[in-house]
Amino acid sequence: MLTRTWKRRCFLRATGLAGLAPLVSPQAVAGGEDWSRTFSRSFDADPMLLGWRNVQADRLRCKARIEGRLPEELRGTFYRNGPAIFRRFGVRYRHWFEGDGMVQAFRFDDRGVSHRARVLATPKLVRETSAQRRLFSGFATPVDGGARPRRPDDLNVANTSLLDHHGELLALWEGGSASVLDRETLAWQGFKVWGESLDGLPFTAHPKVEPDGTVWAFGYSFAPAPALVLYHIAPDGTLRRAHRIDPGPLGMVHDFVVTSRHLVFVIPPLVFEPSPGGEVLLDAFAWRPALGSRVLVVDKDDFDTRRWYQLPAGFGFHHGNGWEDAGGAIRFDHCVASDATLMTETMRVIMRGEFKPAAPELYTRFTLHPDGRSEVDETGEEAEFPRIAPAVTGRRNRYVYTVGAPSGESGGWRLRRVVKRDLEAGASESFDYGPGVMAEEHVFVPRRIPRGEDDGWLIGACLDYRQGLSGIAVFDARHVAGGPLARAWLDYPLPLALHGQFSPA
Ligand SMILES: [Fe+2]
Repeated sequence: MLTRTWKRRCFLRATGLAGLAPLVSPQAVAGGEDWSRTFSRSFDADPMLLGWRNVQADRLRCKARIEGRLPEELRGTFYRNGPAIFRRFGVRYRHWFEGDGMVQAFRFDDRGVSHRARVLATPKLVRETSAQRRLFSGFATPVDGGARPRRPDDLNVANTSLLDHHGELLALWEGGSASVLDRETLAWQGFKVWGESLDGLPFTAHPKVEPDGTVWAFGYSFAPAPALVLYHIAPDGTLRRAHRIDPGPLGMVHDFVVTSRHLVFVIPPLVFEPSPGGEVLLDAFAWRPALGSRVLVVDKDDFDTRRWYQLPAGFGFHHGNGWEDAGGAIRFDHCVASDATLMTETMRVIMRGEFKPAAPELYTRFTLHPDGRSEVDETGEEAEFPRIAPAVTGRRNRYVYTVGAPSGESGGWRLRRVVKRDLEAGASESFDYGPGVMAEEHVFVPRRIPRGEDDGWLIGACLDYRQGLSGIAVFDARHVAGGPLARAWLDYPLPLALHGQFSPA
């Protein structure tokens, strides 16, 4: 296993956050407003904010209380990852995505469901604990006297997602390296190094694993020049190829699409334009809708063979899937909004207890034709966290599972409905958790020998903020509208997490 421990760290050759250095002066100030106090005041009035409150302990463990009947065939561990520490040493983070990561493991066995959670002791967290203060200004949080990060991993909170591949469990954070975890204790063990020249380079939170175990991934960096780093990893976990390409004006690219022949990157017009007045990295991103959304298509067999498409300006985080038809047209989906307010404002001010409405992310399908034409098919339906059956990654999928808002609902955090979309029939079915519950990502888990694309379960987390409890639900993926087969409730609430991964026993 190639890992880089904190003691063995090296200086990176090209960094994603090297561009941050000039933006963060050692004299950066934390600003006059006390976000902790503002959040506490708002939380007293609105229990929905429970999802953004600090987790109550660094480690948690309990046996879940089961409602309903768990499928006997469902055995394994549902890992989840998300920001969980939002306030340290008197400083409350000023963006949801800055929170220090906590990994959770829901284990399904003959005794039911047990839960463990552990805040990851990343080098960043350990160094702060040792110093008893915040050391670096972060993505959106200026820190009094904060030092300049020397490398992206100085800020690595390992808080976004997970990859379980070839026996190795990795916590992912797109700003820097993946982190290797002990799958039993969930302890942070070191940074993953895919190859000697890749030490410290960013690695996406959304790698794509093809049915044969091949992994495609990317990282984006801004200095010394904008770059996309492409990773091609073999089923045995070894690096086959890595390549660095210049994409021109580059913004945040959170996810990408893999088809049978291509890698597809939708580059939103939220571009990196550092200005002298910016205090934090987020200030260095400017919304430039005149650029539109640029789409880069890269040949999987030859990273130097590329073509570009132009789409209307938009900003979104996630894709469900992509595939190519017999005529060579690339088809993919995206949960995309008309602007980036969700990222630049809503997820920022939520940290002081404010719900700022943002342009909704809508489930949208795109077609890129070989002759350069493109088509956009927008459903108008709010959707996030799209997931598919792993077996159809890069192939034509019939179903996609998302979470969304009830129709007609406005204000607050509206994701409480689980939706199964049948793309061939143009139909959907859904289950609404109801008022007082926030639905998180729901992951498709196939049966051991599936008899169809939707033959399996849909497993997802939810937060019942009125009861002050977190739990997970298990659906029969063939009948989502029928509601959960079973729910597993914990003894405690958890902050909202981001992404999960089910590892069969
Ligand atoms: Fe994501």
